[in-house]
Amino acid sequence: PVNLKGRSFLTLKDFSSDEIKHLLWVSGDLKHRIKHEKQYLPLLQGKSIAMIFEKRSTRTRISTETGFSLLGGHPFFLTSQDIHLGVNESSTDTARVLSGLSDIVLARVYSHTTLEELVKDASIPIINGLSDLYHPIQILADFLTLQEHYGSLSGLTVSWIGDGNNVLHSFMMTAAKLGVHLRVATPKGYDPDSSIIQEAQRLSKQHGTQFLLTSDPVEAARGSNVLVTDTWVSMGQEEEKKQRIKDFLGYQITMQTGSVAKPDWTFLHCLPRKQEEVDDQVFYSPRSLVFPEAENRKWTIMVIIMVELLTEGPH
Ligand code: CP
Ligand code: NVA
Repeated sequence: PVNLKGRSFLTLKDFSSDEIKHLLWVSGDLKHRIKHEKQYLPLLQGKSIAMIFEKRSTRTRISTETGFSLLGGHPFFLTSQDIHLGVNESSTDTARVLSGLSDIVLARVYSHTTLEELVKDASIPIINGLSDLYHPIQILADFLTLQEHYGSLSGLTVSWIGDGNNVLHSFMMTAAKLGVHLRVATPKGYDPDSSIIQEAQRLSKQHGTQFLLTSDPVEAARGSNVLVTDTWVSMGQEEEKKQRIKDFLGYQITMQTGSVAKPDWTFLHCLPRKQEEVDDQVFYSPRSLVFPEAENRKWTIMVIIMVELLTEGPH
């Protein structure tokens, strides 16, 4: 049996194949029970979550706030402007105080090391709500969406065409564990982190999946079930925008890109989206799963928080 109580959730690198499958299964089950069977499950009654945001957010904030309340708990949203963290009070002291005042922390930070420091200093679980290195809660929503669409994940091929960024890193730490092949195209100079590449190669060997790295978007898309991209300019990189748009020329996902993919190909994007990385024809087509994907942020974060907080889970 899988037991995640008390664990932090900074990267899917730390979670096994069985644990990730368990989280996806429970997310689907909870969605069914609440959305379709209209069950009321106050599993988080009396609990609170501190949500610390150093950057903007629509989906992560709203899915966590609405999901936590739906389960009877109390979420509170804190930006760097609201709390003393890093300005007037050390991270250690803030982490200790939050450990006494709430049950769990979700933090969106610039540097991944900020999360690691929180984990060190806090006695409650810390969830990564996006860092420069990873976006693990996004990837669970993505795989839940694919599981719902295709019926199962094992044997699917996912192609990432775009920046070698935090969202891609989380795909790389998860795909092989779910039996999913991964084909990645990034422009030269925008490759994923090299130690994360090594780990992805190790995982694909261990799980018998393919892992391809190329700088050719067409090669990445060939024979794939799922085309995925993200913004070319992540939060904090705004000054590089002009250069990036130049360097990513030819990377826009269009129906032309899809022409080499499998006939059943679909499209994912974590959002927010700009037209440069995917045109309207793909983005608003029936192949695009982006809106169910955004909704699934809620069902997956609810389970992550719940499974981590409660010993027995939602049984
Ligand atoms: N995909 C995602 O994390 O969106 P937000 O930045 O709106 O939270
Ligand atoms: N790569 C993007 C993801 C936003 C959800 C960023 O880091 O800004």
